[in-house]
Amino acid sequence: MLVSIVHIVSCSADNEIDRLVSSMTLDEKIGQMTQVDYRYLQDKTDIKKYFLGSILSGGGSTPPTNQPASWVNLYNGFQEQALNTRLKIPLIYGIDAVHGHNNVVGATIFPHNIGLGCTNDPELVRKISAATAEEMRATGLDWTFAPCLAVAQDERWGRTYESFSENSDIVTSLGVASVQGYQGGNSLKENSILACAKHYVGDGNTVFGTGSNNYKIDRGDVVLDEKELRDKYIKPFRESIKNGVGSIMISYNSWKGEKLHGHKYLINDVLKNELKFDGFVVSDWAGINEIDSDYKTSIIESINAGIDMVMVPGSLNPDDHSYDDFIRLAVEAVQEGSISMARITAAVTRILKIKKKIGLFKRPLKSPKDFNLVGSNSHRELARESVRKSAVLLKNENNILPLSKSGKKIAIVGEHADNIGYQCGGWTITWQGGSDDITPGISILDGFKLAVRDTNDIIFSKDGKNIPDADMIIAVIGEKPYSEGWGDRESLDLSKEDKKILKRVNEKNIPYLIILISGRPMLIEDEIKDCDAFIAVWLPGTEGAGIADVIFGDYKPTGKLSMSWPKSMKQIPINIGDKDYDPLFSFGYGLTY
Ligand code: GLC
Repeated sequence: MLVSIVHIVSCSADNEIDRLVSSMTLDEKIGQMTQVDYRYLQDKTDIKKYFLGSILSGGGSTPPTNQPASWVNLYNGFQEQALNTRLKIPLIYGIDAVHGHNNVVGATIFPHNIGLGCTNDPELVRKISAATAEEMRATGLDWTFAPCLAVAQDERWGRTYESFSENSDIVTSLGVASVQGYQGGNSLKENSILACAKHYVGDGNTVFGTGSNNYKIDRGDVVLDEKELRDKYIKPFRESIKNGVGSIMISYNSWKGEKLHGHKYLINDVLKNELKFDGFVVSDWAGINEIDSDYKTSIIESINAGIDMVMVPGSLNPDDHSYDDFIRLAVEAVQEGSISMARITAAVTRILKIKKKIGLFKRPLKSPKDFNLVGSNSHRELARESVRKSAVLLKNENNILPLSKSGKKIAIVGEHADNIGYQCGGWTITWQGGSDDITPGISILDGFKLAVRDTNDIIFSKDGKNIPDADMIIAVIGEKPYSEGWGDRESLDLSKEDKKILKRVNEKNIPYLIILISGRPMLIEDEIKDCDAFIAVWLPGTEGAGIADVIFGDYKPTGKLSMSWPKSMKQIPINIGDKDYDPLFSFGYGLTY
């Protein structure tokens, strides 16, 4: 009985949307398919003028004063424009909340996915996404471009840290948990935050040297046969669809030389018809532009391939395509018959049905009362727990760990020890991330000072030049923040500065621990021989105290490698299941006390 009532309600809702769509003009329909980054609006009244269906904040696209109330005002200012149109269709606002609500100063920043993959704990990941959704609702936003379902194979890729694992089963189970966390279960509800499974499909398996947009590997070409593409890379999307994911973002990469943004077989035939995906498909940032040098051709091919919403997103550079170009050329394409009206109607119907499901028609304007949820203590505790569980202990000679909290002088060296920006990594406050106190948090050094009985036992040397005598040295080294192709690397060697610090530390002939902050495994075969203990903490986010929790033994390390750890560059890409698999540390490796 209940099922039939639910069925009747959803049918009537669908009929309502069908009626609304049938009343729309071509301009209104194309407007709904257009997504613009708010920084590139020539004027916010363009939302009304062009019937824009979606606004996004790309990395760093933040209100002038970056705090929760400003986000709500920004959102409502745009929504009022959309509600002033003839049909009053609400817009949907998307943002990359990929490891917490990471564009917002004061938000809880959780470990990036590579660390969560080492917990292999779906319930933890679901809670993290649910907490992120709470912080998004507190700022008025509707839609996150997450989870990333990349199955990263080549650690030289700058987006390796956005991947949960090289193993498709881990990516699938954690990706599904994340969708359920954002959306509040396995179907959309009126207060769901819309999730976005990305990037469809194969982004983590491109061939080094085939990158586009001047990147080495990012946005490159995938050369797998269809069976492996389906079994390893389409699988996480298939399971996310079964769990109600409401949107899917198309990947920049190609498959056998054909751009995914124009791939009718993989989008329309596989994703929509075979896998029965009934949400809407969004392009990546100017992703359609890479299909063809002629923009109108790119528009026609991408929409006919099955893309429903185009992240144009506009630009401050007058030479780039803007949203008025996109709209004009898309309308032309329909009028000349290059894109059918049926295709446009189908795209708009998908978009509006999702907007209705998440309650936008009912409550388009936001008035959250609970700003205190942003960066709340309970969320920070959850983040600290996830930092503990992400850490992977790779060496512990003579069980030198855990350390005692008193009676030991501990010298902590390296700038990564006291740098919130470094420990958060990319996609934090700005697109590429930053350095120092970019947002409130607890550095690794702070965490140690809070843990010991006498803070005089902790001596910090940022550059590691004059390392004081101590009972123990802790060297905190690693990568500086990057995002996307900017993080593509030919070599995963430690930086020269880090090698110099470790040389100085080694010469002290005092026992020492190395803590590595990185978005991927790095080449450490020599360095790990000389140290007494080594722990990989990935990109832990704002709650650096979770690392002291493990080092002092309040909690045992439980993390297991979600990515194989190579010995040398010659081995990369190296993944579990490879012929003559011989990593420094295997997938699944991790010590405990
Ligand atoms: C970026 C990324 C994508 C992100 C989008 C919006 O280029 O590829 O992951 O969601 O643009 O910021």
